[in-house]
Amino acid sequence: MSDPNNSVLQDECFYDDLQQTLETAWMLLSQAATDRHSPMHTPVLASISTDGKASARTAVLRHVDRQNHQLRIHTDMRSPKVAQLLDRSQCQVIAYHPSHKVQLRMEANARIHNADPTARSIWNDTPLSSRRCYLAEHPPGTPSPVPTSGLPEAVAGRVPDASESEPGFSKFAVLLITIDTLEWLYLAARGHRRARFSWTADNDLKSEWLTP
Ligand SMILES: Cc1cc2nc3c(=O)[nH]c(=O)nc-3n(C[C@H](O)[C@H](O)[C@H](O)COP(=O)(O)O)c2cc1C
Repeated sequence: MSDPNNSVLQDECFYDDLQQTLETAWMLLSQAATDRHSPMHTPVLASISTDGKASARTAVLRHVDRQNHQLRIHTDMRSPKVAQLLDRSQCQVIAYHPSHKVQLRMEANARIHNADPTARSIWNDTPLSSRRCYLAEHPPGTPSPVPTSGLPEAVAGRVPDASESEPGFSKFAVLLITIDTLEWLYLAARGHRRARFSWTADNDLKSEWLTP
């Protein structure tokens, strides 16, 4: 079976068609959330630091909700990105698929769920091996005098059981990232294509081609 991540996109249906371009963008994003081999599974999330600097990092795309044009990322509540997004919710998410030659650049606003029913229900579905990250004793980015994983000795080399993982719940944060604008860039030898899709607060969609 061919690997969808290494195949070339058949572009006849979307190359000159705005609606199909948006369909393809959602298809790539949805696939990225469920397929860890998709290069779009680990997009870059950029926020604005509290002193106004750009602040970008790689993160795993956990879920895509097309209806609400929303992406989901998990993180540590104590990480600098959470403080930044609490201060200024505006962010960008950028994903690139090298074999499909598609870049998606999304302007968005992030809402943070921590220690609430939304976080609880997602935590309940989070594998124990992933929950372990949230057991780190010090906040991410804390300087250490020695090389460290940050994890307590007891779980450093193994997966915790459910009760051992539970103290991590208070550190577990869900970022729900609502896309306002999705910008598509498709690189093609016969001519690149660039398009912008913007949603208003009333969920009306404006679609337009841009000069690449
Ligand atoms: C492939 C990859 C996936 C990552 N996934 C996540 C993630 O899902 N959530 C997260 O908080 N950090 C993730 N990280 C770590 C972040 O890139 C970053 O180093 C860390 O979250 C600290 O970010 P901050 O100091 O800007 O808050 C990932 C890093 C890599 C290389």
